[in-house]
Amino acid sequence: MQQRPSTALIELTGISKTYHMGEVSVPVLHGVDLTIDAGEHVAIVGRSGSGKSTLMNILGCLDQPSTGSYQLDGREVDTLDDDELSDLRGRMVGFVFQSFHLLRNLTVLQNVALPMEYQGVATPERHARAKELLERVGLGHRFDHRPNQLSGGERQRVAIARALSNQPSLLLADEPTGNLDSKAREATLGLFDELHKQTGVTLVVVTHDDSIAERTPRVIRIADGRIQ
Ligand SMILES: Nc1ncnc2c1ncn2[C@@H]1O[C@H](COP(=O)(O)OP(=O)(O)OP(=O)(O)O)[C@@H](O)[C@H]1O
Ligand SMILES: [Mg+2]
Repeated sequence: MQQRPSTALIELTGISKTYHMGEVSVPVLHGVDLTIDAGEHVAIVGRSGSGKSTLMNILGCLDQPSTGSYQLDGREVDTLDDDELSDLRGRMVGFVFQSFHLLRNLTVLQNVALPMEYQGVATPERHARAKELLERVGLGHRFDHRPNQLSGGERQRVAIARALSNQPSLLLADEPTGNLDSKAREATLGLFDELHKQTGVTLVVVTHDDSIAERTPRVIRIADGRIQ
């Protein structure tokens, strides 16, 4: 009998995370089981301190769980060494953060091209692709600006273009509209919807904002480090 191929991009089983601060242990995640299929659009919603960013850092291979299994695209993350992990992250994951995390000394175009440089993409190709991405997010007229010469909404659009530069399978956004006014917030959420439809990227948005949850097809609620 033929087995149906699994479409899960993310499979977490019994994940826990405890931070250690000297003698003090801070347990944050407890027995998290979660499956996210390739191409899904998911919101992870919970109050401040519930463990959302901790979970996102694990999903993005920025941090390792204390116990449990994380399979990303069929690979057991726990078995990878640091180099393999950063390679996996660089090829598969794009990040968008609340405070943009753009490099202030680089132009908009250079910021978007940088992750491709890390992946060894040749200069003409990465510039061409960075321009294309910036046009796609409506910033075709801002290539040579620096981050501090942009509005908050524009900065977040640069960050989104950068996150997509290596054509990731997984786009993770942690409170992406937290620093934006209502108009820029709407534009950013609309852009995420559009990019999700166009590229089929698996999109996971972490937020405490219930109105983002309302417009997202699948909502996962987290409280005190447990999926509800
Ligand atoms: N590096 C760390 N060392 C110790 N404790 C930590 C560390 N990072 C987070 N914590 C604690 O873990 C808990 C969850 O933090 P986390 O950042 O995951 O919450 P969050 O849901 O993202 O909150 P917010 O909505 O405010 O961003 C918090 O109580 C926090 O103090
Ligand atoms: Mg957080």
